[in-house]
Amino acid sequence: MSPARAVVGLGSSLGDRGAVLALAVAALAALPGTRLLASSRTWRTRAEGPAQGWFLNGAVLLETTLSPRGLLGALQGLERRLGRQPAARWHDRLLDLDILVYAGVRRRGARLTLPHPRLVARRFALAPAREVAPGLRVPGDGRTLGEIPDPPGLAPIPVGVLPGPLAAARGGRYHRPPPEARAMKIFLDTANIAEIKEAHSWGVIDGVTTNPSLIAREGRDFVATIAEICEIVKGPVSAETVAVDAAGMVREGRLLAQVSEHVVVKVPLTKEGLKATRTLSDEGIDVNVTLCFQANQALLAAKAGAAYISPFLGRLDDISHDGVELIRQITDIYANYPELGTEVLAASIRHPVHMTAVAQAGADVATLPFKVLSQMFEHPLTDSGLQKFLADWQKVPDPDVCAQVERWLRANGRTPR
Ligand code: E4P
Repeated sequence: MSPARAVVGLGSSLGDRGAVLALAVAALAALPGTRLLASSRTWRTRAEGPAQGWFLNGAVLLETTLSPRGLLGALQGLERRLGRQPAARWHDRLLDLDILVYAGVRRRGARLTLPHPRLVARRFALAPAREVAPGLRVPGDGRTLGEIPDPPGLAPIPVGVLPGPLAAARGGRYHRPPPEARAMKIFLDTANIAEIKEAHSWGVIDGVTTNPSLIAREGRDFVATIAEICEIVKGPVSAETVAVDAAGMVREGRLLAQVSEHVVVKVPLTKEGLKATRTLSDEGIDVNVTLCFQANQALLAAKAGAAYISPFLGRLDDISHDGVELIRQITDIYANYPELGTEVLAASIRHPVHMTAVAQAGADVATLPFKVLSQMFEHPLTDSGLQKFLADWQKVPDPDVCAQVERWLRANGRTPR
């Protein structure tokens, strides 16, 4: 059979949904006679009907020699192998795999109807399908996936990416890696767009943190600023709630999370803040719990499902407490219980020595003012060493490196790019 293109929808509403979907994509790519052509972002939807949780949805475009029935059988086998238990329709499930479109095939059947009868009526199915195959014409409908407008209903929110081509190139937020796979990240602690653009151009920042004071300092619209920062860094951007009660924080947080897939909702370390953290993180929204000054607070934030805990070093040093020691205590505690899954984000960093110390203490992230990040590049011996190298270079017979390399490549039968 010659290969056909099929769009498969993926959904999960139980457990570590991002990991389940990533595993399913790997298994789909390994099906016999099948190639993964594209994978979508992942989209979070609040459950409708009797399901309790929130769903994470995505889609992949496959090229396969399996027939529609063969592909259906393979998907059902994968659902079982990855641990799906039988559940009533619309209920929570570990993994749901559906063929949404299979080439030009139209069929009705008890086990399989193609295209999927609810594809164009469900935003959580249409949004990822559109990403992987915008030009694919839906059999019987006439329009391409890209031409079909959003149906009414709850809007899904993009929160990450599935592994695979396309999504990998999209630069979206990956689901948080397991602790053992984490590398240290550097965030910029500012809401100043010029600073963020400059630091981003250096290629060393992974995200940005803001707080109400930093936003106020810029005198600009809060949400427009956050949206602009997300567009520049395409990594986690903390936007802080200002409500003092959990319901207010949840409301602000849910809205802020819709501004961009990169928004991380920041809440204060209060009882109300942790209540809000539990609700938001159960809905798949990353939360940064801020204003942490002691290790037990960090433990509670992790228990509430925080994605990040922000201990404030500088402000502790200001009152003669050892800020770096707090980072050590928290990284020790979290290392004892890696399943907590919260990343330690060292905040209120005042100088480069703080940075070295928190990296030694094993912080997952450090957020730095622009000035401290700039200082990290500097050393007088770097400057004087460079001056000496450049002066000596003037003594070589041909100081034009590019012209010399191009000549050499051509002489060796290669074309310079
Ligand atoms: C970042 O998330 C914090 O809000 C920030 O680092 C606080 O820094 P400060 O103590 O210098 O105000």
